[in-house]
Amino acid sequence: MRRCRKKRQHRTKNNPSDAMPKCGNTGDIVDQMSGNQPRVLVTGAAGYIGSHTCIELLGNGFEVIGVDNFDNSEPVVLDRIAELAGRAIDFVELDIRDTDKLRAVVAEYQPTAVIHFAGLKAVGESVEKPHRYWSVNVGGTLSLLDAIDGSAVERFIFSSSCTVYGDPANVPVTEETKVAPISPYGRTKLAAEQAIIDCLSTRDCGGLLLRYFNPVGAHPSGRIGEDPVGIPNNLMPFAMQVAVGRRAALSIFGNDYDTPDGTCIRDYIHVVDLALGHVAALSTATTAGECDVVNLGTGTGSSVLEVVQAAGDAVGTPIAFEIVDRRAGDAAVVYSDTSKAREVLGWTATRDIGDMCRDHWLWQSQNPDGYN
Ligand code: NAD
Ligand code: WQD
Repeated sequence: MRRCRKKRQHRTKNNPSDAMPKCGNTGDIVDQMSGNQPRVLVTGAAGYIGSHTCIELLGNGFEVIGVDNFDNSEPVVLDRIAELAGRAIDFVELDIRDTDKLRAVVAEYQPTAVIHFAGLKAVGESVEKPHRYWSVNVGGTLSLLDAIDGSAVERFIFSSSCTVYGDPANVPVTEETKVAPISPYGRTKLAAEQAIIDCLSTRDCGGLLLRYFNPVGAHPSGRIGEDPVGIPNNLMPFAMQVAVGRRAALSIFGNDYDTPDGTCIRDYIHVVDLALGHVAALSTATTAGECDVVNLGTGTGSSVLEVVQAAGDAVGTPIAFEIVDRRAGDAAVVYSDTSKAREVLGWTATRDIGDMCRDHWLWQSQNPDGYN
């Protein structure tokens, strides 16, 4: 087990202000957790959403124990987290399917909450390598559930996805919308949700299954951001790689949808808002043995052409694009109903598409080749 214990500043137990949340909507985190020093095990801590969440957790007084196998991330992100947060996370390199190693981490650090980001997320790859997706996303989740059994963990937060809704019949998408995933990736996220619901039902642990819409953007410093391997599948990273000169032009997949400008509409959410949603989730009351599902989006849809325009505005030069055929499996319009997130978590996204493009561009322009 490679262990990286970064030097960290220790908070004093008699200075509770150190542990109070900064984002203003999270309540008294310390009192609602079982210990004085809230400790959170973050799987996939080095990834795109995990790294941004680590910064917000550290900034809100949490102790963070991160694990990751760097399958889709780089160790240098841990240094950048420390640089931005002013202190480091504890970190252990492991594959979440290695239950014994994971159990040893839980025994050593005694976390009271888990945020489970680790997983594979590429829809296309999941069609080509379905077993890999079931192994990591479902097998990895089962391994984690096994590793925390009998531990002090009383709150389990899971990274789910709007992909579980497939092509929803109506928008906005509520948590009651029928789930009907259309890819192996989507089915593994739904299966992982169901495994968590069943396994926690017999334990002193409550769950929050957070279904993210379309995370984009980066930390406003531009020091951390999304660094996709190979050709990006997603709109924003592709557009930004065009802007930085790594790709010639963006292919827009269809302009003949039944939408105002003919291109698909999605609910893009700034990754920092998303990270703050996890901070809020850590102080939301949960009931032992029960899980609740919450959508995390902005409730505002943007079309592909609107995003391309906003990205060009942020960059200062239009993004070159061409219209090509539709991509198989794309729904015309998907955006979230945000009322449950507001009611349950007391959380609302505050950053708009201009903020998302500005911060994503800052990251991409300062790191044209990502972390490499
Ligand atoms: P990411 O790939 O940047 O981060 C995932 C992290 O998990 C990576 O650092 C990777 O190295 C790690 N990992 C993968 N397999 C592992 C394993 N077997 N053991 C240990 N670590 C492992 O992805 P992300 O965008 O940060 O997504 C995080 C989570 O959020 C995923 O579960 C994903 O399904 C979910 N999600 C992402 C999006 C999105 O568009 N980014 C949307 C909805 C849900
Ligand atoms: C957005 C829009 C494309 C790329 C994906 C996953 C989903 C979830 C969120 C993890 C669509 C169009 C895209 C390009 C384009 N992730 N587009 N040219 O498909 O809404 O959702 O991320 O859970 O599971 O499927 O996001 O960014 O791929 O596409 O025109 O090169 O941009 O057709 O309309 P999507 P996306």
